[in-house]
Amino acid sequence: MSATLVRNVKDTFIEKFKTEPLLIFSPGRINIIGEHTDYNDGFVFPAAVNKGIAAAIQKSDSDNSTAIALDLNSSIDFELDKLKPSKEGSWENYVFGVVAEIQNKNKIIGNFNIIFKGNIPGGAGMSSSAALENSVVFGLNEIFNLGLTKHEMILISQKAEHNYVGVKCGIMDQYASMFGIKENALHLDCRTIASKPYEIDFKEHQLMLINTNVKHSLSDSAYNDRRSACEAVSELLGIKALRDASEADLVTIKDKVTPANYQKALYVIQENERTLKAAKAIEENDLELLGSLIYQSHEGLSNQYHVSCDELDFLVDQAKQNKQVLGARMMGGGFGGCTINLVSKSEAKSFAKNASKAYKNKFKKDCSVYFIELSEGTHIVK
Ligand code: GLA
Repeated sequence: MSATLVRNVKDTFIEKFKTEPLLIFSPGRINIIGEHTDYNDGFVFPAAVNKGIAAAIQKSDSDNSTAIALDLNSSIDFELDKLKPSKEGSWENYVFGVVAEIQNKNKIIGNFNIIFKGNIPGGAGMSSSAALENSVVFGLNEIFNLGLTKHEMILISQKAEHNYVGVKCGIMDQYASMFGIKENALHLDCRTIASKPYEIDFKEHQLMLINTNVKHSLSDSAYNDRRSACEAVSELLGIKALRDASEADLVTIKDKVTPANYQKALYVIQENERTLKAAKAIEENDLELLGSLIYQSHEGLSNQYHVSCDELDFLVDQAKQNKQVLGARMMGGGFGGCTINLVSKSEAKSFAKNASKAYKNKFKKDCSVYFIELSEGTHIVK
């Protein structure tokens, strides 16, 4: 958590609204493995991190509500009974969506003010959106005593994203951000929405992120397209979700789907298996195996699921050329954002330096390196 962020939203809130706010920190996440499996009812392996969104929130007696995105220097006043999605891509949809979905559950809230600020770079694939949604629902639940459980809150955040932001996301991001545990990753079953925590101590190795600083504008529609393709294949197979399919099942419908969709479904089935194997590898402290599963995950994301990009592929290739990097892959929805690297502690800095230099030479722009800590989920800051 960043104390500076929290102080910043608190001071601004008091200055502007002349009252003490409730303070919340809601983290972003990484994901060790299990990409694009969550909306297939499959397994994922995320962890909340020490980067996220700080929010200051309090009830208001004025006749409208105000939300302020401090990073963007942008403010919006709105009326609770007149909510509708703003134009595509605007930040207020995360706030409006959460409010609307709370109302859809017949929970009554009054006017409120919220100010937030974050340190997750946008488009990094670290779920700044889930962090924001969770901070809003968590804050409203507290100040209006809504009695929502954390499970109910993450479903509200997810629906906000579906209906107001327009991304038909799975549950991984909201779950990881809300339920994160310090020094742990969560092996999450996205069907039951229950997870098993794994203490992550890779001894001489560590996780490190490299951000391509690329965000492709078509990623939302491409994401929804992937989801539809998976659902279409499930329907053909007569199953609820690809989580229920084996590679052998998939062969039985090979001539009924396009080769592209066949590869996508195959990727999901294989990635789900890899995620289960990764949990076992971590239990057995087999980092070589974990690393190789991570590399395979990237292969699949790039060549079967087609959600990578040149910059991500380049950074993974850089990792492959360095024996001290056991695994690397793109992380999150794709088309830009970060790679996650499993690298020896002694080599991490020099790998980061060399990869950054090569990246700059190749793409004439900078990538960014993040050393992260696995941290607690959405919480109140005293
Ligand atoms: C985005 C979505 C998640 C998940 C990942 C890919 O982050 O919000 O639900 O599908 O992409 O694994």
